[in-house]
Amino acid sequence: MKDTTINLHSGFQIGPVDPRIFGGFLEHMGRAVYQGVYDPDCAHADEDGFRTDVLDALKRLQYTVMRYPGGNFVSGYHWTDGIGPREQRPTVRDLAWQSTEPNLIGTDEYITLCRKMNWTPMLTVNLGTGTPEEARNWVEYCNSPTGTKYADWRMANGNEQPHGVKLWCLGNEMDGPWQLGHVPADQYAIRAQQAAKMMRDTDSSIEMVACGSCNVDLPTYLEWDRQVLEYMGQWADYISLHRYVGNENNDTLDYLAVANSIDRQIEQIDAICRYVQGKHRSPKRTYLCFDEWNVWYRAREQKYTDGQGKFAPHLIEEVYNLEDALVVAGFLNSFIRHADVLKIANLAQIVNVIAPILTEGDKMLIQSIFYPLEMYAKRRTGISLQPSVQGPAYEGKTNGQATYIDPSAILNHGQLNVFATNRHPVETATVHLNLADGEISSLVNAELLTGPEAATANSFEQPHLVQAQSFTEVRLAHGQATVELPPLSVLAVTLQLG
Ligand code: AHR
Repeated sequence: MKDTTINLHSGFQIGPVDPRIFGGFLEHMGRAVYQGVYDPDCAHADEDGFRTDVLDALKRLQYTVMRYPGGNFVSGYHWTDGIGPREQRPTVRDLAWQSTEPNLIGTDEYITLCRKMNWTPMLTVNLGTGTPEEARNWVEYCNSPTGTKYADWRMANGNEQPHGVKLWCLGNEMDGPWQLGHVPADQYAIRAQQAAKMMRDTDSSIEMVACGSCNVDLPTYLEWDRQVLEYMGQWADYISLHRYVGNENNDTLDYLAVANSIDRQIEQIDAICRYVQGKHRSPKRTYLCFDEWNVWYRAREQKYTDGQGKFAPHLIEEVYNLEDALVVAGFLNSFIRHADVLKIANLAQIVNVIAPILTEGDKMLIQSIFYPLEMYAKRRTGISLQPSVQGPAYEGKTNGQATYIDPSAILNHGQLNVFATNRHPVETATVHLNLADGEISSLVNAELLTGPEAATANSFEQPHLVQAQSFTEVRLAHGQATVELPPLSVLAVTLQLG
């Protein structure tokens, strides 16, 4: 394969990378909460029943915002079921995943977890079967000083100080016919506006995320977003995007080119935001919140999503391989390249349910997709630079033309962080990193993720087949850096400038 050059210039800046694009999502689904983060019977449980082995692994990913409690789950969830003495909380039937929910974890425990983990809380209100007033009451419970009904409930539950939840999602996937309480866009917009007004009347400092299109294949894609924003855009600081991708056609190269369509999705939703802002001559700019994203395609059928009335059933426990890790890196590259419009993103999800970590009894496994998340998180601070790639390309069958090398770059004062995947299935790529207006003087550190085959996955029996390793083979000459990227690999490198 011919060489590739990634050309950068410190003046070609896309924008500061918002650390909140490194967020996560924890839903009451399957074994995410129970047996995932919370398992008082586990040998690793702390004094609050949280699993320290899982939390220690999650700390390595440095999540910023943590969305909770759903997901489809939230559209049947009543937050009042999850507060107060545990023994008095009801056990309810969760219709979204056909599971049993004992409400052992609720708002106060979630906030405890956020504090332990240094996560910024991000709550989703129920706009499916819940009312706008119920949503507003939750804001009072979380954020108001004591002296009124719901804030006093919080105090009675042991939390005199407000929880200070500043980020709120106005429902989940309300455009999806599978969603409890799904309605057409105009009706959702009315419901969301009513909730948003009362929520902000309760706490004027909160930020809100309106439900955007959750699936690029739904017939309402984009039109839903236009209608919602036209009606209630002044309340929406952000609009949500969701995306789950997979290699359904067993075509690795096309699958890896899916980053093209993630770029496109971001740009199309942003175009709607700009259109509505322009049409209304409004100073209000709505930004993007990609609050669910991941690889998810193996465990999609009903048998994987039907909890059969059980408590903590095994649901959508996707096993990830090397090519999935490259796709996760592709999502992150796309997010960094759109730092000017994308402000929040949440990997769905964090443990057991389509997650980088799996548990089995007291054991825990780090999956392949964990590594790009960790490699990027370590180097996320700074300004995203516009990369220009000169190098060989291929034609993906459904996702179009893609260069074999997919990059993003972040300038952090005197250091340059470059991320690059080599999508070639069998060839090593020689990649030159060129900062047109500066000199790369030394290697600070670098990591490389690769593995034997596209389909290689870690397992409890063989947990280290796909993992990141320290990488030192960076050649420096004439102010440029050159690396050899093995086939199907992800590089994250920090370089010293000047
Ligand atoms: O993350 C799993 C599910 O995917 C979420 O509950 C839902 O919002 C989406 O369809």
